[in-house]
Order: sequence, then C-alpha cells, then structure tokens
Amino acid sequence: MAFFVAVANRKGGVGKSTVSVMLAYAYAIWSKKKVLLIDLDAQSNSSLILLGGERWIVSQRTSRNVAAYIEDRLYSIEQTKVLEYLMHDIGDVELSPGQLPAMSLLPGSLSFEDMQDELITYYSRNQTPFQQAKAKCAEHFRAAFSFASPLADVIIMDCAPGLSNATAAALKLANKVIVPFRPDAVSEFAVDRISQIVEGRNFDDVIAMPPAERRYICLANYVRPGGRDAIYVDTIAGNHPMLSAQIPAMPDVADSFDFLGEPQSIEEKYGDAVPAMKALHDELTEVMPI
Ligand SMILES: Nc1ncnc2c1ncn2[C@@H]1O[C@H](COP(=O)(O)OP(=O)(O)OP(=O)(O)O)[C@@H](O)[C@H]1O
Ligand SMILES: [Mg+2]
Repeated sequence: MAFFVAVANRKGGVGKSTVSVMLAYAYAIWSKKKVLLIDLDAQSNSSLILLGGERWIVSQRTSRNVAAYIEDRLYSIEQTKVLEYLMHDIGDVELSPGQLPAMSLLPGSLSFEDMQDELITYYSRNQTPFQQAKAKCAEHFRAAFSFASPLADVIIMDCAPGLSNATAAALKLANKVIVPFRPDAVSEFAVDRISQIVEGRNFDDVIAMPPAERRYICLANYVRPGGRDAIYVDTIAGNHPMLSAQIPAMPDVADSFDFLGEPQSIEEKYGDAVPAMKALHDELTEVMPI
C-alpha cells in the first residue's frame, strides 16, 4: 500500500507544486520508489512541469486527468480503475541514460473546479445541510484517491491554494502533510490554520501535541541569506514541527518549472538546488516510513 503525502498550504505561491515535483523526483531517483503524483490544482502547474504543454493538452483530450477520473464516478465510487487515467513516462529527468524513473501522474484539469461544484450540488440535494454536503463531498474524493494506493509506493498530492473539498480530502487521506511556506510576516497565520485543519483540533490543543505525533511538518522554502528569514522560520518552529532542511531562493529552483523535453540527469535539471533537495529527501526518509 502506498504512503500518501499531501503538499498543502492555504496560501498561494509558497512552492507547493515546486516541492511536490522535487519530492517525486527525489523518491523516484534516490530511493528508487514507484511514485504517483496527483495534481489537485486546476492550474495544473505540476502537470505542466512534468508533461510540458503539449502532452498536458493530450491528457485533457484523452480524459487522462483527475476531473475525468472523478466525473466517471460522480454517483458511484465503487469502480477502482485509476490506472487508465494516468500518464506514464513523465518528466524530463532520467534515472540513468535512456531510463526514466518509475513515475506516473494523474494530471490536473481546468475543469476540476467545476467538477467539485457538480459534486457538492449532488450531495446538497434533498436539502442536505451545506456542511454535511461538504463533508460527504470530501469523503467522496478521499475514497476515490485512496483507490490509487496499490499503484505506487508513494503518492504525492499537490494541493491547490485555498481549501477546496479535494484539498480537505487530501489532508484526511495523507499519512504526512508537508506544509511549504515562504518566511514572511503572514506565513505564520497560514501555518497555524492548516495545522488545525490537519489535526482537527483548535490551536491550543494542536500546540499541546508532541511535535513528532503531528501529521504535518513545515518546510521553509524561498529562504534568502541574512537573518530576517531565519527569524520567521524560528517563530513558526516555536509552535510547529519544522524540517531542518530548507529550500533556498535560487534561480535553479525557479528554472525547474521549465519542461525541457529531452531527459537529463537530476544534477543537470536542478543544478545548484541539488544539495538542498538531497538534504530534504534524506531528512524525510527518517520522518516518513516509506
Ligand atoms: N526556492 C525557490 N527559489 C526560486 N523560485 C521559487 C522557489 N520556490 C518556488 N519558486 C517559484 O515561485 C513560484 C511559485 O511556486 P509554486 O508554483 O511551486 O507555488 P505554489 O504554492 O504551488 O503556487 P499555487 O498556490 O499557485 O499553486 C514559481 O514561479 C516557482 O518557480
Ligand atoms: Mg501549485
């Protein structure tokens, strides 16, 4: 059975997709694990990073995407055929010359938000109270995503910003939630909020929990040299479990968004970001029993 990892933060632009793709490559290449990435964001950024624009369009036309998968089980989540909705041979990093790593993708789709509206409408029928309908909708997504479990060793769910029902489902399903954040004056509020959602407790009860027992862990991304960012990281670490590994702000991380088509080594793809990526992978292998 797979180990489910959600990469989530209600705040946008903090590096969720960047980190999701980094983790997918890190586990596939350095741990030789079979990896599935589920793109839960209609923006489809991680799908575009892993497929490039042309193949992403193919994934939309051929119904190999998360919206098509849910659409086909809108009123019944019994069928478990996830495999036919996946894209294989993805990414532009090779394991060794001529050999791609064992990675697959359930691509994102622009219609995923409409899909979620459709599902909530379905569960709101017969005057069901809205909160109850939302909970049923999240449970529907959770069950649907859980069917992917036999297909990989690790399943990474790249969540959209905000708190959609699909994100709520991913947070429930995840064995571990990685919360990337940018060290700034507002990030603390976003981390406080997601910690309560993941643990299902109010803030005081969350911070009373031993850090090692919490299902989420924070990751400082876009860290710049100088003391200012370290102060924000330390403030958050005062209340929340924090990875020692950090991702610095650097052009090689930003450039990893480009799909290069021609596969290359992970060192060529990530350049100066490789040591940070490796440190993250190594620390996570201790934190997460995959
Ligand atoms: N460590 C970094 N150094 C430089 N650029 C970065 C770094 N991390 C992320 N970026 C850039 O910041 C932007 C936002 O990153 P990304 O899309 O991964 O965030 P996100 O949280 O997934 O956003 P969204 O909320 O829109 O889904 C991208 O252009 C990405 O290339
Ligand atoms: Mg994203």
